[in-house]
Amino acid sequence: MKKLELSPSILGADFLHLGSQIEQVKNAGAKMLHFDVMDGIFVKSYSMGLPILKQLKHETGMLMDVHLMIVDPPRYAKEFGELSDIVTFHYEACDDVEEAIAAFRETGVKVGLAIKPRTDVRVLYPYLDKIDMALIMTVEPGFGGQQLIPETLDKVLELRSWCDRHQIDIDIQVDGGINRANFRPAYNSGANVIVAGTALFAGDVADNVKYFMAQEEDINNAE
Ligand code: DX5
Ligand code: ZN
Repeated sequence: MKKLELSPSILGADFLHLGSQIEQVKNAGAKMLHFDVMDGIFVKSYSMGLPILKQLKHETGMLMDVHLMIVDPPRYAKEFGELSDIVTFHYEACDDVEEAIAAFRETGVKVGLAIKPRTDVRVLYPYLDKIDMALIMTVEPGFGGQQLIPETLDKVLELRSWCDRHQIDIDIQVDGGINRANFRPAYNSGANVIVAGTALFAGDVADNVKYFMAQEEDINNAE
């Protein structure tokens, strides 16, 4: 199984105490932060943008895992590319996916391609050798705090087995509704970069991070 990475979604954090919450996830062992960008068009909500990302990138020392839920993502390739470690944008938001991948690549950033829960996983297949990560949304994008849609994990399984059959070594991310109850099924289905917002920032943040990160060892020891 591929190495597990936990990507805490700061959309689920307490913004009045963002700095100390990030300190907590970092001290507990998380290396990445998931940063959701919404434009009010591709999804209904607005969330956060470049000024906050800039500060996080320069002051946290963590890897910036940026999820663009915006129309026509290449418009912002330069700005987000320069401030991110990986930028993931939506298949559904692009006129020309290949061109979009190339635009982000040009900035030197890693590239992820995302699909919404109702999009057929096979649309990703032509691009798998050109991207670093595929994101299978496990909720409809737009809001934190929703319930994971179980059928989306079947798509993760399908994608991981396609990749294995074709010797494609790629990260698969899941995002939305991940909690203690479904973390293992998500990892077992083949996702290795796991986003968690609401469930991670509720209660004891450090304990939640440690719990999620320990799943990898638990599962691998049980095998
Ligand atoms: C939803 C976002 C998610 C969200 C996840 O559109 O892409 O990253 O923050 O939050 P939870 O874990 O609360 O579903
Ligand atoms: Zn996200």
